[in-house]
Parts: sequence; C-alpha cells; structure tokens
Amino acid sequence: MDEFSDENLLSGEAMFNEDTERLDNPIRPKLLEDFQGQEDIKDNLNIFITAARERGEALDHVFLNGPPGLGKTTLANIMANELGVETRVTSAPAMDKPKDLAGLLTTISENSVFFIDEIHRLKPTVEEMLYVAMEDYELDWIIGQGPSARTIRIPIPKFTLVGATTKPGKVSSPLFTRFGINVRMNFYTQEELRDIIVRSAGILDIKIDKDASFSLAKCSRGTPRVANRLLRRMRDFAQVVGDGIITTKVVEQGLKRLEIDSYGLERHDREILKTIITKYNGGPVGAETLAISVGEGIDSLEDFYEPYLIQQGFIKRTARGRVATPLAYKHLGLELHENQRLLF
Ligand SMILES: Nc1ncnc2c1ncn2[C@@H]1O[C@H](COP(=O)(O)OP(=O)(O)OP(=O)(O)O)[C@@H](O)[C@H]1O
Ligand SMILES: [Mg+2]
Repeated sequence: MDEFSDENLLSGEAMFNEDTERLDNPIRPKLLEDFQGQEDIKDNLNIFITAARERGEALDHVFLNGPPGLGKTTLANIMANELGVETRVTSAPAMDKPKDLAGLLTTISENSVFFIDEIHRLKPTVEEMLYVAMEDYELDWIIGQGPSARTIRIPIPKFTLVGATTKPGKVSSPLFTRFGINVRMNFYTQEELRDIIVRSAGILDIKIDKDASFSLAKCSRGTPRVANRLLRRMRDFAQVVGDGIITTKVVEQGLKRLEIDSYGLERHDREILKTIITKYNGGPVGAETLAISVGEGIDSLEDFYEPYLIQQGFIKRTARGRVATPLAYKHLGLELHENQRLLF
C-alpha cells in the first residue's frame, strides 16, 4: 500500500500536519468504533456502510468537509476498512491531466474507495471527466485528432469517491451535487478530545492524570490533531522536567512554555486579534489585507486560524471583513474602541 506514503497525503496546509502523522500511525483510528466523537456522523455512516456492504454494492460518493485536523483523511480510510475494500489515495493538485485520473480509475478494483484530498483544487478538464465517472462509471476518452477525433466511452469499475476539502465554498455545484452523502465535520467537544487524548496516551504508553487530560483537551482548539500534538509535547516536558507522568502542573507549565492560553490560542492567534484591534480599529478588515498584515497565507488564515477564532467568538465575519468582538478585547486586556462600542 505505497499510496499511503506521506507524500500523497501532504496538503497545501502541510505545515499543520504532524511530521509523524502517517496513515499507519498507531494512534490513527482504523475502524468506526475507534473514531471518537462526531456521533451523528458515525451513526449515519455506519448505516450507509452496512447497507452497501450487505447489498455488495459500492457506497455512494461521500463529500467530507471541515477545518484541518478533524479527521477527514482518517474517516476516508475507516470507510474503506469497514467496507472491506481497497483504497486509492490522491489529491486534486496531483492530477494534472485527465489521463492521470483515467490511469487511476481504470485500475481500481470493484467497489473500492477512491480518496481525493483537496477536491476544490481539481483542474476543469479533470473535473469534467470525473462527472461522468461518478455518475455512469464510464470515462469519456478522445481518440484521434482534428476533424477525425471522436469520443469513446470506457467502462470502469464501480467505486466510491470520497472527496475531502477545507473549502467547501470553492467546490463547483455540478461536482458537489454528484455526491450522495455530505459530511460536515465540526470541532470536537472537550469531552470528546479528552477521550481522544486518553486513547492516544494508552496506545503510546504515556501516563497522564485524569485532570491533566481534561486541561489539555480544553486547549486543543477542538481539533484531534492538536490534541495529539500537545499530548506528545507534554510527554516531553513530563519526561525532562517532571517525573514522567503528565499532571495538571506539567500541563500548566508546558502550555505556558508553548505560549498557549486557556482558550487554546497560540501566539499567532493572539497576533491576529491584536492586528485587527490595533491596526484596523477592531475591523472590519478584509481577509487578504489581514493575512498580509500578519504575514500569513490567505489559505492558512481562512482554513486554520479563523474557524476556531470565530467558533470561540473572538472574531466575526461580516460582509465588509473581519471584526474583533468585545471578547477579543477582553482576552487581550485592551480597551474597546469607540466605533466597536457602537457596533456591539
Ligand atoms: N475522531 C477521532 N478520534 C481519534 N483520533 C482522531 C479523530 N479524528 C482525527 N484523529 C487524529 O487526528 C489526526 C488528524 O486527522 P486527519 O489527518 O484525518 O485530519 P484531516 O481532517 O484529514 O486534516 P487535513 O484537512 O489537514 O487533511 C489523525 O492522525 C488522527 O490520529
Ligand atoms: Mg487530511
């Protein structure tokens, strides 16, 4: 299964991926029962998977969307495992020409899972070929050139397309409507994150107190990837400056060293808030201007930083741009601007 190499999994936002995060990583859940939280999603998927398996058919195409690190790639892999089928993994930017897609689709096995990461980045010609493949399980193939060129249809095995994206708004509607199952992943609750931390600690043989696992969950930005990353950092602190056990004290000191506050905000999150407040009088400021001001790519600002800041109520998205809320002023210990007072 060499499609599972890191290279194929690197997204544009590779910086948020842990270097150690591979599909064969022992803490990555393999089956639905290991996948913590997102109960509604799991319940529905379980039904759809069971039904498809019982009928011996391919599962309907699945659209997975949500911020980075919430488990999209993990879930795609779980679906294949639960269905007992092969997986093919690729990402939209890796398919330059229709023939790249054709090469994959003509060699997959019946009912397998075909995972395309960053599905919003498909080239138009590749996307068009995918429409026919998804609907009719056939490929339109042009043979010959000039006036004698003609299109033939090549049958391909039935398959399940799992398309993942952090930017659902950038997916064209003809593509989106061809997915039968739409899964929107949301941030995890603190309890769910605590369960993930406890499970990972068990697998990695890390000792962590009950209270400490909850403190850590609170600062994990609602994101399993962050929870696992913090767990590994706390293990380092516990090992070097503690006695090997992650206690609340270790967590407190560790988070301080990492400059992560009680809301799970990192220095960069606070810089974003501070920039909106001090440079732009609290906003509104356009996303592009803001990204440049904080030295961040627009993608990582919109996909990684903003969703959590919005969910926690620190910023608001308005038609004219991003606005800092009174909570952001309070959190940074800054005075509310006159115009913001009128706004809220
Ligand atoms: N529900 C879960 N339970 C336990 N662990 C999880 C869960 N979801 C994700 N993880 C862990 O978090 C890590 C990140 O998940 P994953 O790579 O699937 O995220 P993603 O949504 O594909 O992110 P990206 O958008 O950056 O590709 C995985 O290595 C996995 O171990
Ligand atoms: Mg992924």
